[in-house]
Amino acid sequence: MAPSWFTGAVLSALLLAASGNAAVAGQKFSSFSKAGTPLFNSETVQLTEKVFTNLNSNHATLFKFGSNGTDHQPRSLFTGCKVFPGDLSWPLPIVWSIFDDLLGGALIRTVPLAASCYSSRPEYNQHKCESISSQWTDSHIHAADPASVMWPLFEGRSCLPTTNPSESCSLGGYSSYTVNVSNVAQIQLAVNFARNAGIRLVVKNTGHDFNGKSTGAGALGIWTHNLKDIEYYENFRISGYHGPAVKMGAGVQAYEIYEKGKELGFTAVGGEGKTVGVAGGYVLGGGHSPMSSIYGLAADQVLALEVVLANGRFVTVTEKSDPGLFWALRGGGGGTYGVVTSVISRVHPKVGVTVSTFNFSTSKNISTETFWAGMRSYLNRFPAHADAGTYAYFWVMSTGKNSFTFLMNPFFAVNHTVSEFNTLMKPWFHDLKALGIPFKPNSTYYNNFHDAWAAGFPLETVASSVMMTGSRLFPRANWENATKLNATFDALRATISAGYPLLAFNMKAELPKGYLPNSANPAFRQTLMHAITSTSWANGTSDADIKSKMEHFTNDILGKWRTTCPDAGAYMSESDISEPHFQQAFYGSNYARLYRLKQRYDPTSLFYAPTGVGSEDWAVKSVDGLPDQNGRLCRV
Ligand SMILES: Cc1cc2nc3c(=O)[nH]c(=O)nc-3n(C[C@H](O)[C@H](O)[C@H](O)COP(=O)(O)OP(=O)(O)OC[C@H]3O[C@@H](n4cnc5c(N)ncnc54)[C@H](O)[C@@H]3O)c2cc1C
Ligand SMILES: *[C@@H]1O[C@H](CO)[C@@H](O)[C@H](O)[C@H]1NC(C)=O
Ligand SMILES: *[C@@H]1O[C@H](CO)[C@@H](O)[C@H](O)[C@H]1NC(C)=O
Ligand SMILES: *[C@@H]1O[C@H](CO)[C@@H](O)[C@H](O)[C@H]1NC(C)=O
Ligand SMILES: *[C@@H]1O[C@H](CO)[C@@H](O)[C@H](O)[C@H]1NC(C)=O
Ligand SMILES: *[C@@H]1O[C@H](CO)[C@@H](O)[C@H](O)[C@H]1NC(C)=O
Ligand SMILES: *[C@@H]1O[C@H](CO)[C@@H](O)[C@H](O)[C@H]1NC(C)=O
Ligand SMILES: *[C@@H]1O[C@H](CO)[C@@H](O)[C@H](O)[C@H]1NC(C)=O
Ligand SMILES: *[C@@H]1O[C@H](CO)[C@@H](O)[C@H](O)[C@H]1NC(C)=O
Ligand SMILES: *[C@@H]1O[C@H](CO)[C@@H](O)[C@H](O)[C@H]1NC(C)=O
Repeated sequence: MAPSWFTGAVLSALLLAASGNAAVAGQKFSSFSKAGTPLFNSETVQLTEKVFTNLNSNHATLFKFGSNGTDHQPRSLFTGCKVFPGDLSWPLPIVWSIFDDLLGGALIRTVPLAASCYSSRPEYNQHKCESISSQWTDSHIHAADPASVMWPLFEGRSCLPTTNPSESCSLGGYSSYTVNVSNVAQIQLAVNFARNAGIRLVVKNTGHDFNGKSTGAGALGIWTHNLKDIEYYENFRISGYHGPAVKMGAGVQAYEIYEKGKELGFTAVGGEGKTVGVAGGYVLGGGHSPMSSIYGLAADQVLALEVVLANGRFVTVTEKSDPGLFWALRGGGGGTYGVVTSVISRVHPKVGVTVSTFNFSTSKNISTETFWAGMRSYLNRFPAHADAGTYAYFWVMSTGKNSFTFLMNPFFAVNHTVSEFNTLMKPWFHDLKALGIPFKPNSTYYNNFHDAWAAGFPLETVASSVMMTGSRLFPRANWENATKLNATFDALRATISAGYPLLAFNMKAELPKGYLPNSANPAFRQTLMHAITSTSWANGTSDADIKSKMEHFTNDILGKWRTTCPDAGAYMSESDISEPHFQQAFYGSNYARLYRLKQRYDPTSLFYAPTGVGSEDWAVKSVDGLPDQNGRLCRV
């Protein structure tokens, strides 16, 4: 029986009418942003206090706005752990149902993506299971699911695809509920509800994050994937910038903005990964790009953002409106300061690119020493290649005892014709030939970024639960001193020889002249190589053995890399979740200011992301002892 004080339909209608009225009454200011552009339709539907007047006071309290972020409000109610399912103060079903009504029916109770593989689940369906299993390593299905993530290892491996339906499938580290967002009011309601009820909040966009930042046991998820608007401005003006810009909804993915760029003739600074969320965690954490050696990081391009703050208020953040938050949001990490609903970023003129792939290996004729001499010649060329504005993604791995293979996958020579590319490569290719190493570059020129990117970067596989990664941003200083360069080379060779693959980017990411400084990792400004490696184990390895493998990887394998450049850092978004002293590694000298801003804008620690700013104040007590999100989140 519906309580007399409440009918959901009325509330939903009121919520929608609030924005409708504004439009009807011609209050144009309400659909216009301080950034100087119209808000997206999804952004004009905002939460108003009026909604609370229809709720009884107990329930209204759960959806009320917080005090403004600049207040130093101490948190008194919810110390200890975040409220967890099964706790006395976990919201009752009726409350979830009121919440869902306020949201207009957008609340989704989480069903793990692979639930259809398990006979204990009502979703059990072999046909569906086969389909999910066959697509499990394809990023699209995880991006399109409200709660799934692409690194199930850090969720807690609680419901993997299986051919044995009698195994167990649990919610594990997945959020309990997710809001399928299509407007700002829904985000405001979710933020207010999670804060007032003391429950964990996570923001999930695509679920690409390497360190489980977009999932959490017992959490309410905010799923931004469907915020897909894109608007191009040929003459955008703000804070000294005048030129082309694009406003992107938080759910826009790399391939979508590249397609738009091809259609309209601009080049966007986005990642190489096809389905990465360019206006979500990617840009908020810095974001390296095939265009970075010329234009810097994705975060450097950002001119304005629309954001729901931890207190539930919806604000436009620009250099002028809020310089501190503007600085922090551009590089300080996703899921930390607020929920971004859109960003406005500079874009650049159309540019041609030569894409080249080639490989070489040890063989009967090519000894190990010859192979490594060919590698060393390449390493020597890193400054010249990055300074020429190019970006190279290459893999080096051990393929057996004393056998190695190198794969350029691809070399992305922005603003180079094939002949200009060949000129740039001449010193290295000359050495390879002199060493007798056979290789055959396949080089093609494309007259626009999209086509070059689509040809050069294959869709990467995701969702392995038997491996983890770690990385380092090797600084230019390592190339400017022969002793250090030798040490760098030796460290890489030792890693690869020990069976750990190298997946690396030769690039740079300096802040271009005239751009506003931001909070992106200062180590990025110095780097000539973002190097990633990984460790893996067999299926069925015990948790204790996985843990010791992880520790060896973190301390010994990556330790060798750190020794060559102790003051450098690592890229937070493609890193080791257990990176020692992550504050220095991922944020460098920006950390103290980022931490102060975190206290100011999120005084109640509503937002938590593992290795995020302020995350050292919290810990997840995971059920398997691994650094995953399957457990309660508690203050330390
Ligand atoms: C296959 C693959 C390819 C990749 N390629 C690149 C690359 O070329 N360059 C590069 O720099 N990185 C790359 N990455 C790393 C990528 O940048 C990170 O995984 C990043 O976190 C992805 O952001 P997302 O929004 O897509 O993912 P999610 O996992 O959904 O979100 C990541 C983090 O950002 C937060 N977040 C997301 N949206 C919002 C929002 N609207 N407001 C506030 N917080 C938000 C989440 O809470 C979470 O903390 C790649 C990763 C993979 C798996
Ligand atoms: C908080 O900020 C909002 C706008 O961001 C404003 O409308 C409101 O009046 C402020 N509230 C207080 C208590 O200052
Ligand atoms: C999420 O909402 C959109 C509308 O914004 C709808 O098209 C889509 O089907 C919903 N997705 C799920 C999983 O409910
Ligand atoms: C190896 O060297 C021999 C003799 O120099 C040559 O005939 C042969 O083609 C080479 N093989 C490869 C794979 O390069
Ligand atoms: C491309 O190179 C030309 C010179 O060859 C230069 O004038 C132009 O600015 C470059 N464009 C970009 C985007 O770097
Ligand atoms: C390596 O290059 C050769 C041509 O030299 C090519 O035939 C082969 O497919 C390449 N291998 C890989 C793994 O790309
Ligand atoms: C060369 O690379 C292009 C992609 O850039 C690819 O379409 C083509 O098949 C490749 N050719 C060979 C011979 O490998
Ligand atoms: C080069 O690096 C080594 C090792 O870090 C250091 O001892 C040496 O002083 C450096 N040389 C110069 C010229 O800086
Ligand atoms: C670097 O290594 C090379 C090759 O091993 C060696 O010849 C050279 O002397 C080394 N340079 C320094 C400064 O250690
Ligand atoms: C681990 O098991 C899964 C299915 O259970 C399988 O798809 C995968 O290939 C296995 N991986 C390894 C490294 O054996």
